[in-house]
Amino acid sequence: MTTKQFDVVVIGGGPGGYIAAIRAAQLGMNVACIDEWKNDKGGPALGGTCTNVGCIPSKALLQSSEHYEQLNHHFADHGITADNVKIDVAKMLARKDQVVKQNNDGIVYLFKKNKVTFFHGRGSFVAAKDGGYELKAGEETIAAKQVVIATGSNARALPGVPFDEEHILSNDGALRVGATPKKLGLIGAGVIGLEMGSVWRRLGAEVTVLEGLPAFLGAVDESVAKEAAKVFKKQGLDIQLGVKVGEVKTSKKGVSVAYTDAKGEAKTLDVDKLIVSIGRVPNTIGLGADAVGLKLDERGAIVVDDDCKTNLPGVWAIGDVVRGPMLAHKAEEEGVAVAERMAGQHGHVNFNTIPWVIYTSPEIAWVGKTEQQLKAEGVAYKAGQFPFLANGRARALGDTTGFVKFLAHATTDEILGVHIIGPFASELISEAVVAMEFKASAEDIARICHAHPSLSEATKEAALAVDKRTLNF
Ligand code: FAD
Ligand code: NAI
Repeated sequence: MTTKQFDVVVIGGGPGGYIAAIRAAQLGMNVACIDEWKNDKGGPALGGTCTNVGCIPSKALLQSSEHYEQLNHHFADHGITADNVKIDVAKMLARKDQVVKQNNDGIVYLFKKNKVTFFHGRGSFVAAKDGGYELKAGEETIAAKQVVIATGSNARALPGVPFDEEHILSNDGALRVGATPKKLGLIGAGVIGLEMGSVWRRLGAEVTVLEGLPAFLGAVDESVAKEAAKVFKKQGLDIQLGVKVGEVKTSKKGVSVAYTDAKGEAKTLDVDKLIVSIGRVPNTIGLGADAVGLKLDERGAIVVDDDCKTNLPGVWAIGDVVRGPMLAHKAEEEGVAVAERMAGQHGHVNFNTIPWVIYTSPEIAWVGKTEQQLKAEGVAYKAGQFPFLANGRARALGDTTGFVKFLAHATTDEILGVHIIGPFASELISEAVVAMEFKASAEDIARICHAHPSLSEATKEAALAVDKRTLNF
């Protein structure tokens, strides 16, 4: 049998890989994508971590649990009451699975539309051959002129405490908990800890989060982190900072976590389930990196330059498996840029304007520098802040928590960072990303007409606040 030849083979069908494959095909290349993810029936499930056990299912559960929370605690303010409100967790999970499936199917459709050949199974390097590479795609052997590695990441386990997905849960198990646990523990108050902690707290779990660092949300602008800590505490999330986690024991009854608190006192946390969300590790398992001499760093990430080129000619790597933030949209941008570079074009990714969003309630979103970063870098800046409390649309929504904060250069007025905590922060941040991409000044945003009443007026007002001339506060 003749070996199938491709211009480009993409290993991994997550947001980095599938987008790279589609863009390369759009640019006229003959493309294959290999992905090994299996659905419950053993079939393919394109979309990687993001679609199957990450962005999409977590947002589905956040939405369901937020509806429940609203109905239980907030609808009465609108004059809407309901007796005997119940949550059917099985149905909520089935809906989440359906949302995931719609996304899996969507990618299958996109591959067909763009004539991307899909192989279900593990992709690995066999050898460098004829100026390209011989690869395994499941049971088949195929050849590629160029290869894009987009093999993503896996959840990091606590040393000596493997995930059993029954009591000790990774993000995968955290999205499959079949009934609301009475007591839920989380190790790590990062993005997953806060999002998944919020889901199960809203559904009635008593949630304790143990965080190793003494500061809450250290990467977030300090004033946003302070506001978030206050709100989450009020909601009932017990977040303990500066702890040192010790022995973790499981029994039929649940999990017992020994730890020392910030004062050095020995304590034990007994919970029904424990979610360990302490970061993720780049995944190169079974890739055959050694067969071709692919260079990895000490964390196991594939070493790449600014253009996502590895040490091997014609081999690129993108997304969670390389340096930089582990975000789906960062992986996608790198996928597009690499496809364009392979086609001889000048793809680019602006790492300064990658937005971050934490999908808690209130949502937290930011782009660019935090105030503490600007201080540390000695940059002269001006700050402007506007609270949602003074925004008409937020009052009408009944959600006035939080604010929009602008940081602009003291002399040029260029926007250096925008930080939002509040309703629909995930959507509002886009305006700031566009503004920063176009190197806008705070004054530019302040002079743009924003629809009334809308939450986006808070963005305009925060820009006005940089020049101390808010109109509604
Ligand atoms: P992945 O999505 O991990 O995809 C890699 C794919 O490659 C997988 O399908 C894997 O099976 C496959 N693969 C690996 N090795 C091989 C091999 N040798 N052969 C064949 N196939 C292979 N990011 C956001 O931007 N927004 C969010 O809201 C968000 N929420 C998240 C929530 C959770 C719970 C988690 C865990 C992550 C979340 N993320 C979010 C992060 C996001 O999921 C990742 O940044 C993103 O999935 C990275 O994309 P990727 O293409 O690099 O890798
Ligand atoms: P994270 O890096 O966001 O947070 C991990 C937290 O665990 C940190 O606060 C860290 O200090 C703490 N920690 C580490 N080791 C610890 C230990 N031994 N004991 C106690 N605390 C410890 O990682 P997380 O939440 O696992 O998420 C992984 C990544 O997935 C995120 O960094 C992000 O890139 C991505 N993600 C993105 C989301 C989004 O964009 N909305 C949602 C969820 C995940």
